[in-house]
Amino acid sequence: MIRPRITGTGSALPEKVRTNFDLEKMVDTSDEWIVARTGIRERRIASEGEYTSTFATLAAQRALEAAGVCAEEIDLIVVGTLTPDFPFPATACIVQQNLKAVNATCFDLSAACSGFIYALATAEKFIVSGSVKKALVIGAEVLSRIVDWTDRNTCLLFGDGAGAVVLEAVEGENGILSSHMHSDGNYWEILYQKGAGSRYPATHQNVDDRMVFLSMQGNEVFKLAVRAMGEVALEALQANGLTSDDVSLFIPHQANQRIVDSVGKRLGIGGDRVYVNLDRYGNTSAASIPIALDEAVRAGRLKEGDILLLDAFGGGLTWGASLIRW
Ligand code: UT7
Repeated sequence: MIRPRITGTGSALPEKVRTNFDLEKMVDTSDEWIVARTGIRERRIASEGEYTSTFATLAAQRALEAAGVCAEEIDLIVVGTLTPDFPFPATACIVQQNLKAVNATCFDLSAACSGFIYALATAEKFIVSGSVKKALVIGAEVLSRIVDWTDRNTCLLFGDGAGAVVLEAVEGENGILSSHMHSDGNYWEILYQKGAGSRYPATHQNVDDRMVFLSMQGNEVFKLAVRAMGEVALEALQANGLTSDDVSLFIPHQANQRIVDSVGKRLGIGGDRVYVNLDRYGNTSAASIPIALDEAVRAGRLKEGDILLLDAFGGGLTWGASLIRW
């Protein structure tokens, strides 16, 4: 049978590091508080002249190289992002230009921190339908440009970067086993960017009122994330007649070490089987899972036939999981 299979991964991060000690000089916080409450020690921050498309393109180039696929072979580029270069055109089109992926259909997908899982599921459906053979699926963010660096409740959490995978129609049993996506619009106001859209355009007044920055009710998001990520992971396992004992590697969205631990505990997956890099990068939203996946692949953490569980949660609310036989 034909399955959509990840044949190459790549990631790209800004060089500039902002540590918790740097943040101590910017807002009323401490390294001790941040590490205890989130697990984050440092994050990467884009420099002037670096955009979401910069990291998306680099990650994509690395994924293409790993897969041994050239850009002209790509039929589809989907970028999951909440920080596109521009409201339009799609960042995917800018990536297409950079890569010279002349045969690709390109669009962005808005599902906040679940953006990569949603994009992967979307590309999967195109491949299963037979209309696409090779796709580039990218999660990319420059969150530092919508974070309020005077707000200690949010500024310490987020970072910039991108991850990408090449997804191909491949004969055999290995590949994406199933994808599961959910949304609950009743909670859109607990995690969103108020200004700069059609409801509150970027007028002088709205910018002065700090509406262009991300706002979040952290406690609420935390509770809902733990529950939803646990449920959707179990749903993915059950759909395939598997249990958490079968999972070789669990890559959750990298938002907060306490969320990762709570979800892992609910699922009975801990220790070495959970991949964590949020201590180094913070929450990179749609980029977090593909960056972690690329690191895991390059560190030799996945071998053929392993069961890989990806699990995300974000604004919308949106959440989803993908179960993969590597
Ligand atoms: O990608 C999905 C989106 N985001 C997330 O998944 C994030 C989900 N939420 C979280 O990760 C956590 O809720 C936070 C890390 C944002 C906050 O942690 P918390 O344990 O929920 O802290 P809290 O908001 O309940 O605040 C506890 C205390 C408060 O002081 P009092 O009222 O107890 O005196 C805050 O004022 O910590 C204080 N506080 C801080 N102290 C030092 C809040 N932020 C800070 C800070 N430094 N940066």
